[in-house]
Amino acid sequence: MKSYYKGLLICGLGLSLMAGQVQADTLSDLNTQKANLTQQIQEAQTASTSKTASVGVTILKEDQSGTSMMQQYIVSPASVTREANGSYTVLLTILHPEYWQEFKVNGADVTLVSDNQVSFTVSDITALQTCYVHVAAPALNYEGKYTTYMSFDSTAAASLAQSSSTANLDELNKQLEEVNQKIADETAKASTTTTTSTTSSSQETTTKATTESTTKSSKESTSESKASSNQGMVWILSLIIAFLGLSGLAYWWKKRS
Ligand code: HEM
Repeated sequence: MKSYYKGLLICGLGLSLMAGQVQADTLSDLNTQKANLTQQIQEAQTASTSKTASVGVTILKEDQSGTSMMQQYIVSPASVTREANGSYTVLLTILHPEYWQEFKVNGADVTLVSDNQVSFTVSDITALQTCYVHVAAPALNYEGKYTTYMSFDSTAAASLAQSSSTANLDELNKQLEEVNQKIADETAKASTTTTTSTTSSSQETTTKATTESTTKSSKESTSESKASSNQGMVWILSLIIAFLGLSGLAYWWKKRS
């Protein structure tokens, strides 16, 4: 009679471990889904945030009657980056920097990036940008202060301005929210069934789709691989326990009859 109870107990323990493991597997699947979604969101975000292109630049005279002399002193195309906030950063190479005393775009001084490179920000790449230059070549007894207009190649500017579809990003964020909800539900369930709650709840993190989550997700994947090898061990252990329990039961049954 004693061995019957023992068998029953061991068998029950093994079976409950297995049941808990099924739940842990669901959680591990959900966590894998979450890691995949987070990665996809990051990729979609990088694709939609910054975009750099070579864009042709034309400098027009103040009266806009034709190309300005200033054109000879800049390099076209320039490198234009559409930033996450929707503004544009222009990187422009200037020739004979020694002649340039002042250079303003839309009223603001440009930033000197290197000896012959300046950068400035514009809010509308398709508009004409007002430039002010103060030029001086003392050796040639030449000095001038001029207003000109900078125009960016309309085709390149338009393709840069066209924001990549954010519909996909919205959809991915929705899916991530659903997976996070399921994980929360499963974790709540697991904590009431006691046996496997330790393996599952340690994996739960409410990762938001931000750029900083790159490091986070790599951490997650290492903890996931550790967790999956743990799960394998628990499966084997629970099978052994259930087997021992069943053998105990069989032995007791044989002895009894
Ligand atoms: C040593 C070099 C330079 C010389 C000898 C020179 C000479 C001249 C002369 C004679 C004019 C008046 C004639 C005209 O309207 O075409 C002029 C106009 C002008 N220059 Fe220069 N320049 C020199 C450098 C520069 C530089 C480096 C810039 C720009 C950064 C510049 C920008 C302009 C502008 C904007 C005008 C007004 C007319 C226009 O928009 O084409 N110049 N320059």
